[in-house]
Amino acid sequence: MPLANDIIKSIRKVVGKQKHHLHEPLFFGNEIKYLKKTISTNLVSSVGPFVKKFEDQITKFTKSKYTISTVNGTEALHLSLVACGVKNNDEVLVPTITFVGTANAIVYSGAIPHFVDSEIETLGIDPLKLEKYLEKITIKKGKFYFNKKTKRKIRAIIPVHVFGNICKIDKILKIAKKYNLLVIEDAAEALGSFFKNKHAGTFGLVGCFSFNGNKIMTTGGGGAIITNNKLLAKKIKHLSTTAKINHRWEYIHDVVGYNFRMPNLNAALGSAQIENLNKFLRSKRKLFLRYCKEFLKVNNVILIKNPEFSKSNNWLNAIFIKNSSIKKRNKVLSLAQKNQIFLRPVWKPLHTLKYLNNMPRMNLDAAIKIYKSCINLPSSASYFDIRK
Ligand SMILES: Cc1ncc(COP(=O)(O)O)c(C=O)c1O
Repeated sequence: MPLANDIIKSIRKVVGKQKHHLHEPLFFGNEIKYLKKTISTNLVSSVGPFVKKFEDQITKFTKSKYTISTVNGTEALHLSLVACGVKNNDEVLVPTITFVGTANAIVYSGAIPHFVDSEIETLGIDPLKLEKYLEKITIKKGKFYFNKKTKRKIRAIIPVHVFGNICKIDKILKIAKKYNLLVIEDAAEALGSFFKNKHAGTFGLVGCFSFNGNKIMTTGGGGAIITNNKLLAKKIKHLSTTAKINHRWEYIHDVVGYNFRMPNLNAALGSAQIENLNKFLRSKRKLFLRYCKEFLKVNNVILIKNPEFSKSNNWLNAIFIKNSSIKKRNKVLSLAQKNQIFLRPVWKPLHTLKYLNNMPRMNLDAAIKIYKSCINLPSSASYFDIRK
């Protein structure tokens, strides 16, 4: 197994001999102080000062206008789809290479995931292939485009910034404009990633983040929606808090709302974490550069790099094995596991999951290739001493 051995040797050279998980959180700031504050003030649930503080910190960091925090990234996407006006039976374009939550959010909203292909360069949606495809399969009626085969309206697109790498968002925006598609950015993995100095999530009508324990910073579980649209922000906040009308004592709800607000306890953790986000980013950049140097020496393996037009947060480093197969890839994963290095493959393309198998889709050859060939490397921010 020369290839697997070479890969493991290279990983060890960069991160050392101990046991390695893919991504671990790091707490060395005000986490305990802020958490204690929530408990000592009895404000542990969705009312409390840390929710607003954390939202303001996200707004400031991303330079968006509004932030609404949520219970997780999946519900941030779900709520965004509903608030943006995606309706029952609309089709939503989504890459097959993404976390399952992206497609589930579409299903929760009553819409239909329509799977599109990705490209190896960015691991995001392939804009060239998408444009040719839409030209072929759509018909315009009024101001909307419909799927000729299913007769359903194609209403939205969810570009995903996979592992923190920015997809070709400029080209995707152009396609979205041409086909009158709402753009809901899945920036769950991309806090701290930029495209031409503009933060991920600020390109679409809304952008969604996840603060799950495995992300670049965490709130335990949590998410957020950012937008520059004041009315939409108001609507999202209202829907996320059970659509409750302000009143001194009555419980009045004007539409079906959701109980999706982030609790103060989680926001307190997030508030402390985001104070150290730039340190996490610096550490991850350093790790990425070390991997770059090391994997240059490994034949038939390429480290995935974000193209020059953008800056990744380097959340999860990934390698691409040339001429790979599932068998070849699994040999690497298996040998790594025996060596206490817990590598992971890319997600199984969503259209291959049984319950999503009958959803509309284009040719997805590149996605299958990515699935067979890509492996994530240990990528925690804790490999360097960043406490200072
Ligand atoms: C690309 C992507 N989309 C959506 C999500 C959903 O976020 P969460 O796990 O917070 O629900 C995640 C994170 O797990 C993700 O990686």
